[in-house]
Amino acid sequence: YLSAKAKVFVAPAMDLDMYRHPSTARNLDTLRADGVTLIEPAEGYLASGLTGKGRMEEPEEIVKVIEAWMDASASLKGKKILVTAGPTHENIDPVRFIGNYSSGKMGYALAGECAARGAEVCLVSGPVSLPVPDGDIRRIEVTSAAEMHAACLREFPGMDAAIMCAAVADYAPAVCSDSKIKRETTGEITLRLVPNPDIAASLGAIKTPEQKLIGFALETDNEHANALSKLRRKNLDFIVLNSLRDPLAGFGKDTNKVTVIAATGEEKSFPAKSKTLVAADIIDFTL
Ligand code: CTP
Repeated sequence: YLSAKAKVFVAPAMDLDMYRHPSTARNLDTLRADGVTLIEPAEGYLASGLTGKGRMEEPEEIVKVIEAWMDASASLKGKKILVTAGPTHENIDPVRFIGNYSSGKMGYALAGECAARGAEVCLVSGPVSLPVPDGDIRRIEVTSAAEMHAACLREFPGMDAAIMCAAVADYAPAVCSDSKIKRETTGEITLRLVPNPDIAASLGAIKTPEQKLIGFALETDNEHANALSKLRRKNLDFIVLNSLRDPLAGFGKDTNKVTVIAATGEEKSFPAKSKTLVAADIIDFTL
């Protein structure tokens, strides 16, 4: 199991007290969080002679669950999807930069889930320490917002959709020193910052009616109103709202809790889940 690259399903079978035990529930939760699909046991006659929940699901039902998954796993076949992920670093000098706490985990989970469903993925990634997920994923590594902007403008015209998950730095130093700024000789300094290009808005301005554009909003205040105004301003089709105030959402965490809002006004809130499962929810709702 640990080295399995394939999708894993578990159809547990055990006596009713064992199934009801909290340690079983905890272990099954761990498996679910790791992306394993649980096929719940049925109620009925058990090997112990007792009757209750713990009977392995009928093989015909197990096959149906797997077939449904196989249909869904080809749901993005033939689609090309651009995903941005991670932070950007804006250099001050050769050894210092302005950055943010983005780990890239959410964007990488989205890229992995799109590929798992058969899409051809282009992952434009800022500096992170994550491996490229399995599947048809071409990673373009960039450092600054300007580089990410250029890569996205180049790649977007051939795409069916773009998911803008990167935490792009809003400002960059107006000048980047060629040599290391020395404390002794420089003393107090003032950094002049200039705004970076808005990558999502640039793609929103050139997108065709067939292309879908999905953005993210990480807000601390007036979350819903701010997310809606971002959706309109950047001409997005969907915006995924996650709140920094939620302990299960945000930078570096393995879990996230999101609400997805469509330009049509439709919206859906999901409970806190692992970022892999959140990626599946976002893709189900938007693509
Ligand atoms: N985004 C982008 N390019 C930028 C800034 C943001 O593509 N220069 C994208 C993000 O990837 C995200 C969405 O726009 O999908 C919203 O990002 P956010 O930082 O929340 O919005 P900002 O426009 O920067 O607004 P503010 O920081 O003022 O909240």
